[in-house]
Amino acid sequence: MVGIDIGSSSVKAVELSYEGGNYRLENMGEAMLPSGAIIRKSISRDDIVSGVVSSLVSRLGVKTKKAVIGVSGEAVALKIVNVPRIFLREDMEKLVPDLVRTSLRRNVSGVNYSYTPLFRHNGKSEETQVLIAAVSKKTAQEYKSSLFSAGLRAQIVDIDAMALSNGYAVFCRGRGQRVALVNIGASGTNLSVLDGTVPFVLKDIPLGGQWITLRLMEKFKITYEEAERIKFSIKGYGRYDEIESVFADFVARATDEIKTVLDEAEDVIDRIILSGGSSRIATLADALGEATGVPVEISNPFRNITVSDSRFDPEYIEHLAPKMAVAVGLALRGL
Ligand SMILES: Nc1ncnc2c1ncn2[C@@H]1O[C@H](COP(=O)(O)OP(=O)(O)OP(=O)(O)O)[C@@H](O)[C@H]1O
Ligand SMILES: [Mg+2]
Repeated sequence: MVGIDIGSSSVKAVELSYEGGNYRLENMGEAMLPSGAIIRKSISRDDIVSGVVSSLVSRLGVKTKKAVIGVSGEAVALKIVNVPRIFLREDMEKLVPDLVRTSLRRNVSGVNYSYTPLFRHNGKSEETQVLIAAVSKKTAQEYKSSLFSAGLRAQIVDIDAMALSNGYAVFCRGRGQRVALVNIGASGTNLSVLDGTVPFVLKDIPLGGQWITLRLMEKFKITYEEAERIKFSIKGYGRYDEIESVFADFVARATDEIKTVLDEAEDVIDRIILSGGSSRIATLADALGEATGVPVEISNPFRNITVSDSRFDPEYIEHLAPKMAVAVGLALRGL
């Protein structure tokens, strides 16, 4: 199966295989989406999105038609709840629709929902934690039909924050460590804090690097594409100080929002791992480290995956790696 991550700014595809205890990278790539194809994480131009997905998988030579797709943002509701430890499966099955209504505040008929026991308790031995997840049926259908038009079948609709966690947990060696995974994309940030391999905070924040793009468009009366270009080579445009201050505003906002979520976790966090295209913003990692007092590193989701040097240019892999964290998690889910 191939993991397809349809983001607001680009589509990423990762195909992995598993043999003899080893994961191997078969295909990987990215294709940009024009502005307006995805609006607030909803597919507004199915024709464009399916065209981009289809040309990406054919350019990469992906053979399989089976795909895992991820959704995030408003279409997703996630909550970790405490339930009595003595609860049996039948008790949970009965309780979950109520939790979807009350804890997630979603209409049961409009969402696909599920629950996952986390085998972690909140300090009270008589309770245990369960993750309740709901995904809007309408959004899931939108993503599935875009894939279908691109000649793929979505076998699994996953949640970006979960894919991020799973992608890390599969290779996690440092049990007992608390790690915050922070994927800063274009329109949003997926945040997942794990205790070993078990998530105990999962959250989407509606702030990503597009915030900078929009400010630059407004300030300089330029197009989305021009603003994106400036982000990659700040020095080339002139008006350096003004651009710098937009970046600084974003870094302060993002740091603030991420710190608020991490503070809610009320647990000591050992490491922060940043991913997503906006993790490339040079000052972000340091600012986040300073604000939280936690060491920050940039994700390499391919670290434990065999990557052939003759098939993939190491520089290209290194350049794209932080952006591929969700797509790798999706691909792993399909194996
Ligand atoms: N070197 C860089 N400097 C600054 N920003 C960058 C850099 N590289 C990528 N970005 C920004 O990262 C964002 C894209 O990241 P990513 O591909 O993770 O987002 P996405 O998955 O398309 O969006 P989302 O998940 O929010 O829907 C864009 O806003 C882009 O401008
Ligand atoms: Mg993304």
